[in-house]
Amino acid sequence: MDAEQELKKRIDIINRYYNVDKLLSEKTDKKAVAKYYRKSDFFYNLIHSRGGGNIHMGLSDDGTFRKDDFLEQARFIDGLINDKTEKVLEVGAGKVANSKYLAMKHPSISFTALDLPHRSFKKNKVPANITLCEGDFNDLSDFEEGSFDFVFGVETICHSEDKSRTIKELSRVLKPGGKLIIFDVYEPKPRKKMTDFEKRVSSFTLASMRVTDVGQYIGDMKKILAKSGFSQIEVTDLTKQIRPSLLRLERLSGYYFNHPALLRFLKATIPRDATMNSIAGWLMPLTFDGRNIHQYNRIVGTKKL
Ligand SMILES: C[S@@+](CC[C@H](N)C(=O)[O-])C[C@H]1O[C@@H](n2cnc3c(N)ncnc32)[C@H](O)[C@@H]1O
Repeated sequence: MDAEQELKKRIDIINRYYNVDKLLSEKTDKKAVAKYYRKSDFFYNLIHSRGGGNIHMGLSDDGTFRKDDFLEQARFIDGLINDKTEKVLEVGAGKVANSKYLAMKHPSISFTALDLPHRSFKKNKVPANITLCEGDFNDLSDFEEGSFDFVFGVETICHSEDKSRTIKELSRVLKPGGKLIIFDVYEPKPRKKMTDFEKRVSSFTLASMRVTDVGQYIGDMKKILAKSGFSQIEVTDLTKQIRPSLLRLERLSGYYFNHPALLRFLKATIPRDATMNSIAGWLMPLTFDGRNIHQYNRIVGTKKL
């Protein structure tokens, strides 16, 4: 069976329990996003990151998932930090796993971690050199222009329904010569080159994680970065490195969808926001690979001097 047939088969099963059209019509604004994480943080921590607080994909180099692979995004940023680094901002920091790793390694650097209000963000326990702020990455008016050496976001900018506005704001708070680092899911093809089926599958998969389907084409993101004052824009495709994480999530979600009695029980007892991302878990190994609907990219842009 090819990827498209397998996707159709899985979507038919999913549709028995989660109405595809309903999910596609639901909002992905910041209120909906905050509620989604508020309801699912506990399960992300328990099942996805096994207590690590990482709400992102592991990056595995040798084809095998290890818990340590969740630290690779932070390790990459660690490799960019130098003697002159004073201030680092992480947007959409979640349970602050990335900034905590970096802050413990660099006690003399000041880290700021920002996430949405209404998701208990300030309750996170962090080292003294991390300041926790509640807010929206589309409005960083609490921070002065040119105040950070690095700004980074791991699997969070995908939530922006206005990527131009977000990138402009992130660029504003970066020092000239400072770097923006993004790890995220993207569509590798422009929407006009995707089939209706591919568009629907992409939108549905993203919606199950309350991620918008607006502005996900990597080509558009490169243009936005160039327009927002970035040069040396490097995009690295890490789709292969997330494959072991995807297969792990596929096993867990496949078990869920293939055991209707268990599914019905969990669906009745756990908030819908916390179970619906099993949809993405089951579809993503096929969207990231067989059909080339999604791609996992690391982007590094340097703000022009
Ligand atoms: C997939 S989680 C990633 C969390 C963290 N970056 C990590 O790697 O573990 C996405 C995070 O982005 C946050 N987020 C989404 N939209 C946001 C916005 N407009 N402003 C700030 N944070 C946002 C969510 O609340 C959530 O914590």
